[in-house]
Amino acid sequence: MSYDSAILALSNDALKYVKDNYVIGLGSGRAATALVKSLAIFAKKKNYNIKGIPTSLQIKLIAEEGGIPIIESDQVDHIDVVFDGADQIDSQKYVIKGGGGALLRENILFSLAKKIIVMADKTKFVKNFTRSVPVEIHPLARNSVTKTIDKLGGKVNLRSLDRGYPFFTENGNIILDCDFGVIKNPKTLSQKIKQIPGVMESGIFLKKPDIIYKAKTGGKFEII
Ligand code: A5P
Repeated sequence: MSYDSAILALSNDALKYVKDNYVIGLGSGRAATALVKSLAIFAKKKNYNIKGIPTSLQIKLIAEEGGIPIIESDQVDHIDVVFDGADQIDSQKYVIKGGGGALLRENILFSLAKKIIVMADKTKFVKNFTRSVPVEIHPLARNSVTKTIDKLGGKVNLRSLDRGYPFFTENGNIILDCDFGVIKNPKTLSQKIKQIPGVMESGIFLKKPDIIYKAKTGGKFEII
């Protein structure tokens, strides 16, 4: 089932939250890509003087191609609006992110954002989280973090590329995908994960989105 037409439609709708002179956080992944492509066309048409802060090289390339001027998160003290995708969204509106490995920068942007807009297809909405939690860690903390996560009840899998090489994030770290089964208390779990020495970021984000777009079949979408 493809949700591409709904993602395109909601990307265009979400542009109503963009104003002239805005600093805009650009998430990573497919939904963010659709949004950034629409944003580039919209900003040109309106002659808006926007700036984009990318969360990865993946989205930076899309933004550059669209002619969106790029700055970095350490050049601002706030971001007007962040647009991003998600890997799972629970009924309390917590999100799991990091499927593409950009969680550290994504969470920095969430923390700076006045408004967070998350876009995802309906398959990603669950009552309680069921997917693994990406945890970005320093490579030298691999064994110690693995042991601690094991004690927290998580089954750890080192993220790797197709041919077995470890996946390195753009920050030079590695990712442990941690399966906790059904997660009933995401806030406590994320706080415990973030306390482990060597952990850079937990894929369970504690700052919730202000607006969530849910892509449905037939090009339709819903705003939550
Ligand atoms: C990147 O690390 C992720 O947080 C993405 O935002 C997330 O995986 C959603 O990506 P898609 O929109 O491609 O599903």
